[in-house]
Formats: sequence, structure tokens, C-alpha cells
Amino acid sequence: MKSSRTQHCNWKFDELRSNIMGIDTEVPLLDGRRVPYVFLDNGASTPSFRHVFDVMEEFMPFYSGVHRGTGFKSILATQVFDEAHNIAGSFVGADPDRDTVIFVKNTTEAVNKLAKRCDWRDGDVVISTMMEHHSDDLPWRMHARVIHIGVNDKGYLDMTQLRSAFETNRGHVRFLALTGASNITGIINPIHELAEIAHAHDAHIFVDAAQLAPHRAIDIRPHDDPGHIDFIAYSAHKMYAPFGIGVLVGSRDYFTTGDPDMVGGGVVEIVELGQVAWSAPPAREEAGSPNVPGAVGLAAAIHMLQSVGMETIAQHEQELVRYAITRMKDVPGMRIYGPVEEQELENKVGVISFEIVGVPHAKVAAILSVEGGIGVRNGCFCAHPYVKRLLQFDETEAKEITQEILAGDRSNLPGMVRASFGCYNTHDDVDRLIDALMRIGHGEIIGEYELHPRTGTWWPKNFDYDFKEYFPHFSFRPTSAITEFTEAS
Ligand SMILES: Cc1ncc(COP(=O)(O)O)c(C=O)c1O
Repeated sequence: MKSSRTQHCNWKFDELRSNIMGIDTEVPLLDGRRVPYVFLDNGASTPSFRHVFDVMEEFMPFYSGVHRGTGFKSILATQVFDEAHNIAGSFVGADPDRDTVIFVKNTTEAVNKLAKRCDWRDGDVVISTMMEHHSDDLPWRMHARVIHIGVNDKGYLDMTQLRSAFETNRGHVRFLALTGASNITGIINPIHELAEIAHAHDAHIFVDAAQLAPHRAIDIRPHDDPGHIDFIAYSAHKMYAPFGIGVLVGSRDYFTTGDPDMVGGGVVEIVELGQVAWSAPPAREEAGSPNVPGAVGLAAAIHMLQSVGMETIAQHEQELVRYAITRMKDVPGMRIYGPVEEQELENKVGVISFEIVGVPHAKVAAILSVEGGIGVRNGCFCAHPYVKRLLQFDETEAKEITQEILAGDRSNLPGMVRASFGCYNTHDDVDRLIDALMRIGHGEIIGEYELHPRTGTWWPKNFDYDFKEYFPHFSFRPTSAITEFTEAS
């Protein structure tokens, strides 16, 4: 492997996999074997690019507080930090004159900030959707009436209902807030068409790009384009730079009036005992000492993705999804949620949610881990309304389950299993998944699994990992104790 110095901005697709940290990590199985881990939980957080780590390492000798230091290191770090803003903005086509790029912790913080910074009026409405991750739903609910546009059985947005909600609430809709790509079905929403509808009704559009940014090229388009995206957010930990930073991009004007949502050091021009003058954005919106190494890592990840090419990445991931879906259809009891037809796959990112009828989702996920060495996720993926809709729960069923959960029994927790791909996954990874699912579908399971009702998790009797052997620095609780802390995710 060449060092990052020589490879800077010249990445080829076939180098991606070997650049993933931990790609060869072997994990233990129930039968005592060890196998290379198959990571299919990229929708939650991706592993890190080695390149990101290398660039951060090169930067760290110069690490210093930014913006007010006068020493060499501080001036260098300040320039790097400011340039990282430019890189994060240009990744989505931001206009350097009219947009601001604000660093936050993650997409969740970005949505909370955007929602808090609106000059809300009585009767204001936010149009959102049933598809949303809770991070693009709950923050809006704190400030305005949120209308959740429905979806059809496959999970596609009901465009007729959306248009009609705009008509019915004419003059009151401040935001259309929706996801760029679903973390459950992978459906990519037609964000520019939706932007046109929002703008025709004098509303802003916010796109939650947490699941879109790592998988597709994004262009928010010029401000005078009717399809312009007013605000967009994404998270570095979902794009190979898991060091605690996220991005909110949007119109600078929006952030030049009103008070910042968080105040303290760094957000002011001048403070007197009786008066404060706020700085210009983005400083005005980045209270406290910022995550400079995280910003460097994010910029390095963006450089790498861009140099490989988002088109190339999209094509590769589409091919993986196509292959996985074709093979999954042969698994006994398989039910896939969301688009599965060939002509639909172009507008779907690499997320496949499914169940094996008759086997609880939490049990499938546990078997994939302990008998297959495969990391997936199960449950409702922080999008409870969407998952329950796709599972066709009626309101009474949904309420009954809510009561059970509130009473501390998660035995019937609704949910699915989700496999989500990154740019480095391969056909072999898919084959490992399908082989394991085939065994589950045919009932060829080694372990004796038991349900833990308090958490809704399944785990094989008398089995635990010896984590200390893998990471000796910390102490570990038994896995069954960890699951005690699992919320209804
Ligand atoms: C569609 C979507 N939006 C928002 C989020 C929240 O992202 P973060 O946890 O980085 O704030 C996620 C996380 O999974 C997501 O999938």
C-alpha cells in the first residue's frame, strides 16, 4: 500500500476495499471458528478509510486551537479548518457566496439547529413524511405542526397527498423536510422535483442526506434554480470518517438574523455586560472549540470519494443490490421490503430490509452474527412509523405493542433485518450473507437461542464473546447485560 502522501486525490475503485480499516478482522463464531467479518451495517456507521486516518495523523503534529491563535500551528490549523468547510460545501454544490457551511456533531444536531433557528409563527406547518428517520421528524415537532405525508405499500412517497397538503395549508408551510434516501428501503426521493413544489408554495426544503451523501453525487443547484435545495445535512461517520462531525449547508441569510441556538465562546464579535454582537455564520453557529481533527478527516474522506468518483461508487453499489436481491429471492420465507424490481433499483441506495417469515428479526440478526460473522442491524431503525407502515400494522396493533413496550416487554418488538452496503463491499460479502440466510431459511441453525423479553433480543444459551482478547484496554460486561441497555431502536 502506498502512503497517503503519494496517493492523495488519486484513488482508484479497486483500492477502496484494502483501504478500509479492519477489513480483514476475524471474529469468533459459535462453533469456535474464526472468520473475516462481513460488515453490512454501513447504514448505521461505516468503518474508516485508512486514508482518513493517515491524513489526520499527518495533521495532528500541527493540531492547535483555531481562529484566534497567532502561532504557526494555530494559523495552519485555522486555514485547514476553514478549507474543510469549503470542501464539505462544494461536495454538495454549495454556493460559496450565498451558502454557509456549519460543522455540527451529526445530522441529528443539524436538523435540531435548523429547526430551532427558524422564526416560527403561530400556525406554522412543516410538511414531512412517514419515511423519516426520527432525527428528521422529532426536532420539527418541537416547533411546529408536522404533517407526515403517507407512503404506499412499497414505501414510496404519496406525491398526490404531498401536493394536496401544500394546497390545504397554503401560506402556513415553512419547510418541506424529508430524507434524500431512506435508511429502511433505500428509496431515493426526487428532491429537486419536491424542491420545486416547496418553492412554488414559498416554503424551504430541507434534505436529510445522511443516507444519500455516501452513495450518490449531490448538487443542491444554484439559488435561482426552482429545484434548488435550500438546506442539506449529512454525517461523516456514514462516509468513512467516523470522528464526530456532521455538516449543515444552507442559505447564509437564514443564519444572519436571530440568536444562535447555542451560545458561548466563538460566536461573538464583541461582548459587553449589557450587549452582545454575534459573529457572521458559520462561526455564529459553531459555539465552543470545534472538532478540528474531525473536520480534517471528513475532508479527506470527501477527497477520496470524489477521486474514486461518486458515479463509480453508485454503479458498484447498485450492482451489489441487484445481485443481493436476485439471490435473496431464493431464500425460503424471504420477504423484502421496498423496491425489488430491476427498473426500480436505479433510485435505491444499498439498503435492503427484509424478514424471514416465521423467524423473529432479532433472532435472524443474532444468528447472522454468531453463526455467520456478519454484522447487520434489526428493529425499526429509528423510523418507527415507516417500519410499522411497511409491516402493515394497523393502529390498534401499533398501540397494543406500544403499551407492551412501555410495560417493559419487548418480546413482540416490530422490526426487520437490514443489510446495508458501502462502496467497498463485494459479491463475496453478499454470498456470505445469502449462504447464512439460506441456512436460516432451511432451519439449519446450530445454536439454541433464547429471547430476552426486556430487550427483545435473542442470544444463544451459554455463549459470549471474549471481547478482552480483542480489545484489552477496557473491561466488558456480558453481552446479555449490554442488551439490557438497548432501547427500542
Ligand atoms: C436517514 C437518516 N437520517 C438521519 C440520521 C441520523 O444521523 P446521525 O446519527 O448521524 O445524526 C440517520 C442515521 O442513521 C439516517 O439514516
